[in-house]
Amino acid sequence: MRSSVFRALCDVAYEQAGIRLGEEKLALVAARVGKRLRALNLDDEAKYLDVLKRDDGTELVAFLDVISTNFTSFYREPAHFDRLRADLEQLRAQGQRQVRIWCAASSSGEEPYTLALTLESVFANTGVDWRVLATDISTKVLAQAKQGRYREAQLKSVTREQRAQYFERVSNDGEAVYEVVPSLKAHVTFARLNLARPPFPMRGPFDAVFCRNVMIYFDAPVRQGLVNEMERLVRPGGLVIVGHAETLSGLSTGLEVVVPSVYRSRGP
Ligand SMILES: C[S@@+](CC[C@H](N)C(=O)[O-])C[C@H]1O[C@@H](n2cnc3c(N)ncnc32)[C@H](O)[C@@H]1O
Repeated sequence: MRSSVFRALCDVAYEQAGIRLGEEKLALVAARVGKRLRALNLDDEAKYLDVLKRDDGTELVAFLDVISTNFTSFYREPAHFDRLRADLEQLRAQGQRQVRIWCAASSSGEEPYTLALTLESVFANTGVDWRVLATDISTKVLAQAKQGRYREAQLKSVTREQRAQYFERVSNDGEAVYEVVPSLKAHVTFARLNLARPPFPMRGPFDAVFCRNVMIYFDAPVRQGLVNEMERLVRPGGLVIVGHAETLSGLSTGLEVVVPSVYRSRGP
C-alpha cells in the first residue's frame, strides 16, 4: 500500500472514529482494505479512497468494521465482574428496584452477556428491573452480538450450569453452536454509538459503565471527551471500569481511583 494512501486512510479513521493507526499497522490495514477492494471490484487503493470519501457513508461503516480490532471474550478480566457483583449485591440489599449498566464497546456480545449473567445471578426472581445497554461503532459486531451465537470453545469461561440455563444448542450450517436464550437477551439492548463523537444521546444515569479495551485506540483529546461523557452518565457512587491495560491518568476527571482500572463517581 502506498504510504500516501495509508496516511489518508489513517486520517479517515481518526476523523471518523478517533482511531489512531500507527505506521506499524500498515500491513494490517493493507490486508484488510484489500478485502474491501475485492468486495467492491476495485483494482486500485486510491480509487477506494475516493469511494470512501464520496459515498453515502455505507463504505465508511464497512471500512471501520475492517480496521477495528474486535477481540473479546466471556469473563475477560474477571476481577471486574467480581467488583460489579459486590456493588450489585449492595444495591439489592438497599432495595434498589431499577439497575442500568452501559457496556460502551460491546464488540460481538461476550462482554454485555457476561454483564447480563452477572446481573441475573444477583437479581433473578427479585423483580428488579435491570438492563444492559451495549454499544459499539461496528455494525458487523453488533449484528453478531444481537444474534448471540457462540462456539463451544468461546464459552470456556461460562460454567456448565450457566451454559445449560442461559444458552440453547442450535445448529449453524451443521456446526453446533450455543445461542443466548431470549429471556437473557431481552435485558440487553444493542445500539451503534461512536465514542469519539460526544455528546451521546443517552440520559443515564447508569449504575456502572464498562468501557474496556477501546481507549487504547484513542488519543488524549478523544479520551477526554469520552471520560467527560462517562462522568456525566454514571450516577454518584457508580463504577466506571476500563481495561486492565488502560488508565484515566493524565485526563481531567473527578472520578476516584478504587484500584487500577476501576473508578468510582464521587458518591452522594
Ligand atoms: C478490542 S474490542 C473490546 C471489546 C470489549 N470491550 C472487551 O474488553 O472485551 C474494541 C471494540 O471497540 C470498538 N470501537 C472502536 N472504535 C470505536 C469507537 N470510536 N466508538 C465505539 N466503539 C469503537 C470496536 O468496534 C471493538 O468492538
